[in-house]
Amino acid sequence: MNPRVEKALNDQIQKEASSSQYYLAMASWSEANGLGGTAKFMYAHSDEERFHMLKLIKFVNERGGRAEISEISIPPKEFNDLKNVFESLLAHEIRVTESINNLVDICLQEKDYTTHNFVQWYVSEQLEEEALARTMLDKLRLIGDNQGGMYLFDRDLENASQEKSPPTQQTGN
Ligand code: FEO
Repeated sequence: MNPRVEKALNDQIQKEASSSQYYLAMASWSEANGLGGTAKFMYAHSDEERFHMLKLIKFVNERGGRAEISEISIPPKEFNDLKNVFESLLAHEIRVTESINNLVDICLQEKDYTTHNFVQWYVSEQLEEEALARTMLDKLRLIGDNQGGMYLFDRDLENASQEKSPPTQQTGN
């Protein structure tokens, strides 16, 4: 495997692991603050990020590279409110998108079209994740300080989590 591509894939493995841990922190904060629906959504999201990580690990190893499992930073323990949770989520996903775009760029520079093809799945996934975070934030801005609206938002997230299939069924592999 091209060493530059391998290094970029390993950096991405670390970022997906960090994302999983970050959303786990959001899930735990939500659960502790009585937001059961949001917690459920975040636990599922954390699982999805772990799946993104595993998919990369398997790809690197199957292509003759060596996937590295590295240290990840400690995620925040506290969030100001639900809006702050989703603002953090969007900011994080924007950084992940930049990293994926950088990976695509390296694949093209190194003429590694197989990895380029593989990474397209992540390009689509990032589009979806950023759009979802923006939709949630728009809703929260409309709700403002309305407690009834917040209750319904949390309940909607619980239903959304139930409708979603587990990551392994969504994408195969
Ligand atoms: Fe797998 Fe949300 O980045």
